[in-house]
Amino acid sequence: MKPALSTIIADIVAQMGEATDRGKVADYIPELAKVDPARFAIAIATADGDLLMGGDADIGFSIQSVSKVFALTLALGKVGDQLWDRVGREPSGNAFNSIVQLEREQGIPRNPFINAGAIVVSDVNLGGHQPRVAIGEMLRFMRYLSGDDSVAINEDVAASETATGFRNMALANYMRAFGNVRHPVDLVLGTYFHQCAIEMNCCQLALAGRYLMLDGRHPDGGRVVSPSRARRINALMLTCGHYDASGDFAFRVGIPGKSGVGGGILAIVPGRASIAVWSPGLNDSGNSCLGTQALELLARRTGWSVF
Ligand code: DON
Repeated sequence: MKPALSTIIADIVAQMGEATDRGKVADYIPELAKVDPARFAIAIATADGDLLMGGDADIGFSIQSVSKVFALTLALGKVGDQLWDRVGREPSGNAFNSIVQLEREQGIPRNPFINAGAIVVSDVNLGGHQPRVAIGEMLRFMRYLSGDDSVAINEDVAASETATGFRNMALANYMRAFGNVRHPVDLVLGTYFHQCAIEMNCCQLALAGRYLMLDGRHPDGGRVVSPSRARRINALMLTCGHYDASGDFAFRVGIPGKSGVGGGILAIVPGRASIAVWSPGLNDSGNSCLGTQALELLARRTGWSVF
């Protein structure tokens, strides 16, 4: 008999509690360096409507790049496939904050999940409005998807990144020179930094990802995206969601996933589960060290690899 999911979660939490190599907490955004590296959390929202959790699943963390999945969903809703004239759909093979390909590729980022691509997505989401309008829309979207009105932005994290985000400023200015960022750079980055500074716990994040396991439907019956768009977002998560470690994540876990430097990962098993893990220590590629290990164990025990 297969062990119950709750048993598997308890085993994973116990194993992660014993881990000695927990990676290194991101410190290039000073506010993120304050987070306790001992934290570990997991939450699984199943297609049957259950929500299972373990560890620190009720503690909020900075979702950072995990927000790029939801920002992409909004941008596709606004401009549809025209987005792909401005952002590619290929893994970059480079770090999340790399600038090297942009010169050779005329300011068109490789994909919407590296920072350059997400900045173009923010430019689209800004849509001629003030950042507070785009940020408000994003926050409403996250609250609707998670069914939780308490989801909020951590203003200290946003301010910390605004004060230190020189690489992102460079990326945005560089793409503006190519005409691929169309609004003033400070407005685009204001949108982007606030979106990254959304704080959620693992339960909220797993719930927010449900539309991607349910062919684009919200469990309340509403349609968030079409089935083909949900499949494509999952495909991008699998191929580009972990930057230059996307191949390794597919090899080890075999589930579409999007990581963030806050230590969170959202992973989607189509038709079965939306999973959020969190542990703030990162590996060399900037992805959660224990979060990846936990998903690897989970995929092995459940057989949830998509391959
Ligand atoms: O732009 C940045 O550098 C951060 N706000 C987000 C980067 C991130 O989460 C990369 N993920 N692993």
